[in-house]
Amino acid sequence: MWTSLSLWLTVTVICTTQQIGYISAEEFPEDAALDSIGLATKYGHPPIQYNVATEDGYILAVYRLPGKGKRPPILCTHGLMDSTDTFLIRGYTSLPITLADRGYDVWLANTRGNRYTRRHQHLDPDTDPAFWNFTFHEMGVYDLPAIIDLVLNETGANNLTAIGHSQGNTIYYVLGSEKPEYNSKINVLISLAPMAYVHNTPLPVATIIKLTPIITTLVKDLGLHELLGDTTALGRIAHTLCSVPVIGYTICAYGLLYPLVGSDPTELEPEFFQNLAPHYPGGSSIVSLLHYLQVGYRKTFAQYDHGSEINQKMYNSSEPPVYQLARVTMPIALYTAANDGFSSLADVQLLRGQLPNVVYYLLSPRLICNHVDYVWGQTVSYYLYPFIDIMLDRYNPL
Ligand SMILES: *[C@@H]1O[C@H](CO)[C@@H](O)[C@H](O)[C@H]1NC(C)=O
Ligand SMILES: *[C@@H]1O[C@H](CO)[C@@H](O)[C@H](O)[C@H]1NC(C)=O
Ligand SMILES: *[C@@H]1O[C@H](CO)[C@@H](O)[C@H](O)[C@H]1NC(C)=O
Ligand SMILES: *[C@@H]1O[C@H](CO)[C@@H](O)[C@H](O)[C@H]1NC(C)=O
Repeated sequence: MWTSLSLWLTVTVICTTQQIGYISAEEFPEDAALDSIGLATKYGHPPIQYNVATEDGYILAVYRLPGKGKRPPILCTHGLMDSTDTFLIRGYTSLPITLADRGYDVWLANTRGNRYTRRHQHLDPDTDPAFWNFTFHEMGVYDLPAIIDLVLNETGANNLTAIGHSQGNTIYYVLGSEKPEYNSKINVLISLAPMAYVHNTPLPVATIIKLTPIITTLVKDLGLHELLGDTTALGRIAHTLCSVPVIGYTICAYGLLYPLVGSDPTELEPEFFQNLAPHYPGGSSIVSLLHYLQVGYRKTFAQYDHGSEINQKMYNSSEPPVYQLARVTMPIALYTAANDGFSSLADVQLLRGQLPNVVYYLLSPRLICNHVDYVWGQTVSYYLYPFIDIMLDRYNPL
């Protein structure tokens, strides 16, 4: 395996050397070292930080960019192993900055287990494996209710507009299914790169899904809990290696990112990648990744499968309960891209057929759009934001 990996890296290095001339001799970019508060402040919206506790004791950092008008609240939730940094790293053209400039009251939430949310009322993430015993299920059932209640409480609004990226959508489908009383608190969910089914993912993700039982056993045997967090060895290596000019872009973007999320190099230029590298990955639990792999392997969008014995105790059934998407009655807008390596068009069609209240569907007019362009793309404000405005105008009339 290591031989083929190094061969693959060599080939990608050779194939991409023509990119080298394109990299300027810039200083290490300033934004690389800024956190979410630093980024939002630099781009004109010093945020208010809230620390909200979930029913099961996790402490979440939520940032509010109050905007200058008095427009309704918009809540953004990030994807797997990601953080609120992801929404801000594009600076002036990033979505929250653009929306706050236009007067929206923008809220950015960190779900449990990332660089801003390695905190719990009594569990220590460094010493208690139980801290890492969560997947998107707990984020939907515990994190979102706490965050949504905070936003509605602080703003006095009856409902909010949600914008999710990737896993930031899965958690709303879980919420609507498991806590249906929250459906009426969302006036519309704008799902960018929606994730629920992973039944039709292209290669190489499909191959990884086939290896789910082996990966699960391996993770258990190695006693791993945290996935690519800032303090883990792999997380540190990733941040350091991917930040190196030229080589970092070649190895991490061409060698790792593009094969997984879909290749779209013009939207993710090398200078930007150096800014991005210290911000992603932002950490999560290993089981949250395993849960997605299970969904693909079992071909069912269901709760985590602990094995029949524990399932019986936990769920009163040897099989984990399937999420009831028919209960997800909030209006949902689905934004998809043909070149998305995780959220395939076939899987989104499957989801679209199960959700009872899909109000809008967009296939990105830029067919080469991938899984991450929605948040990281260089020109995304041209080909995506006008279509987001259609939903914002419809559900937040002035
Ligand atoms: C995680 O949760 C499951 C189900 O409640 C439990 O069986 C398991 O022991 C927990 N693992 C840890 C490390 O706490
Ligand atoms: C909502 O506001 C009330 C009164 O200000 C406060 O006591 C309560 O803790 C708040 N709840 C949340 C979830 O923020
Ligand atoms: C959302 O709240 C606004 C303001 O209170 C209200 O007019 C509107 O009917 C609500 N929308 C939904 C879908 O509940
Ligand atoms: C467990 O499942 C069985 C069979 O489906 C059902 O009869 C029983 O009431 C359930 N028990 C609990 C505690 O839900």
